[in-house]
Amino acid sequence: MLNEKLHSYIKGLLTERNPLLTEMENFAHVHKVPIMEVEGIETMLQLLRIHGSLRILEVGTAIGYSALRMAQAMPNAHIVTIERDIERIQLAEQFIHRSEHRHQITLIKGDALEVEEVVKEHALFDAIFIDAAKGQYKKFFEIYSKYLNDNGMIITDNVLFKGLVAEPVIETKRIRNLVKKIDEFNHWIMSHPGYDSVILPVGDGIAISKRRGERK
Ligand SMILES: C[S@@+](CC[C@H](N)C(=O)[O-])C[C@H]1O[C@@H](n2cnc3c(N)ncnc32)[C@H](O)[C@@H]1O
Repeated sequence: MLNEKLHSYIKGLLTERNPLLTEMENFAHVHKVPIMEVEGIETMLQLLRIHGSLRILEVGTAIGYSALRMAQAMPNAHIVTIERDIERIQLAEQFIHRSEHRHQITLIKGDALEVEEVVKEHALFDAIFIDAAKGQYKKFFEIYSKYLNDNGMIITDNVLFKGLVAEPVIETKRIRNLVKKIDEFNHWIMSHPGYDSVILPVGDGIAISKRRGERK
């Protein structure tokens, strides 16, 4: 992992986001909404650009920050994004409405474990971004990978969970259980016969899983 000085250096090289996105970053900071870390999101956006993803499914909208970043980074892309928290849905709607990229985003309200029927009307997807309840990653992956095209990729955030996945002892039971689930997901995805995966130690750790040509 890079040291703090280099992290600051890299962040200092990034150009400023537009006023709406900056307002959202500040809002998230003040109200403790967990939006994707800056280096993680920049890496993801670059991968999506290279991949040429035009239809993207996001699990976990929060206030719409990453959805708007994807929409802005790829003006020809359409993002279908799922959120279950009523307050966050309202905030996301307000922020998205204020953006010139609003027409690129479809917000699906509900639990990602329950809205498959709605989501599937928007399939197939070129890319899927999983950034919701960490204990459910495998379920999200299993449900929605059915709607990924043969050349698609799945990006999963927080797979290193603040470095806790490598800690031998974790005191708090709830965190310990969560870390165990993430660790199980990481092992599962790394040996999945249908995908080539890599875990990048950027942001909170992102897994990039590229579907192998034929479905398995
Ligand atoms: C880390 S935040 C998403 C951040 C967002 N992707 C960003 O970077 O701007 C995770 C969000 O997923 C939502 N979430 C968690 N589990 C969910 C589920 N099963 N279905 C839908 N949304 C869920 C939470 O309410 C929360 O707002």
